[in-house]
Amino acid sequence: MSSAFRHHHLISVEPLKADDVLQILDAAEVFFEVSMRPVRKVPTLRGKTIINLFYEASTRTRSSFELAGKRLSADVVNISTSSSSVTKGETLLDTCKTLQAMHPDVVIIRHSASGASNYVARRLDCSVINAGDGAHEHPTQALLDAFVMRRAHGTLKGLKVAICGDIKHSRVARSDTLLLNLFGAEVRYCGPNTLMPYRAKSLGAKVYNRLEEALEGVDVIYLLRIQLERLQGAPIPSLREYSRTFGVSQRHLKLAAPDAIVMHPGPLNRGVEIHPLLADCEKSAILKQVEAGVAVRMAVLYLLMSGKGAESLSEATGL
Ligand code: CP
Repeated sequence: MSSAFRHHHLISVEPLKADDVLQILDAAEVFFEVSMRPVRKVPTLRGKTIINLFYEASTRTRSSFELAGKRLSADVVNISTSSSSVTKGETLLDTCKTLQAMHPDVVIIRHSASGASNYVARRLDCSVINAGDGAHEHPTQALLDAFVMRRAHGTLKGLKVAICGDIKHSRVARSDTLLLNLFGAEVRYCGPNTLMPYRAKSLGAKVYNRLEEALEGVDVIYLLRIQLERLQGAPIPSLREYSRTFGVSQRHLKLAAPDAIVMHPGPLNRGVEIHPLLADCEKSAILKQVEAGVAVRMAVLYLLMSGKGAESLSEATGL
């Protein structure tokens, strides 16, 4: 908690060190307290401009980045493709040039193409945050997931985490795995072979095809929906059959560690990858993930935009 944050962008978990992650999580703990106050606002980023540029649908990420920016007193502009000049044929490059002319301090981008956020970062002077690019990465989701896991278990070191479902098309699985690897966690992937990434083993994950084996003794059961918008062909015979084999319900909880939690990045497909009763049970941390999203994104915005380290937080927040 003593040095300035050394990154200008947050495109991927890959360049982060364990210390960077801990710096973000520790700052997020402070902003979590701010979010619990009657007045959930600090003047920290007054005069700064944040542009939320979303080329794909989002409920959690977009609204939490907007709230995060507003709670830090920044000016926040939301652009979604359906209401922007993208519908008139404007390219991503021309959109970048247009945004650059408005001198933003940070652009947050979600795009269906892997690498889109990196493309934008190389063309803008300001900081760029990847809010999900294709099947590549979703770094702030991994950070908020880590925040929830650390709160539940006290540490990320040595955790056993089973990520189940459509891992092949999941940017969340990739970012979570990269982050958990920094802390020596054991990451298990479980799903049908057709939804398993080719690089599963090189990412350091153990691959399972049966839930009963994958969930044995885990601290975190992390479920993923099938990314229907990214599927090519028919990797599963039917959703009904998939649900019978890979759908997780409360009966699976007894396989995991007694204090295991259930996580899901959302949106849920209830009755497919997750039984509705499991989604709503007391072990479910799904809404805690949403709650953490605002605090973690406040921390990321603060560290990228203030140019300061987390040691300046007490001055910034009055805590
Ligand atoms: N977890 C997540 O990225 O959710 P949204 O698509 O609603 O932003």
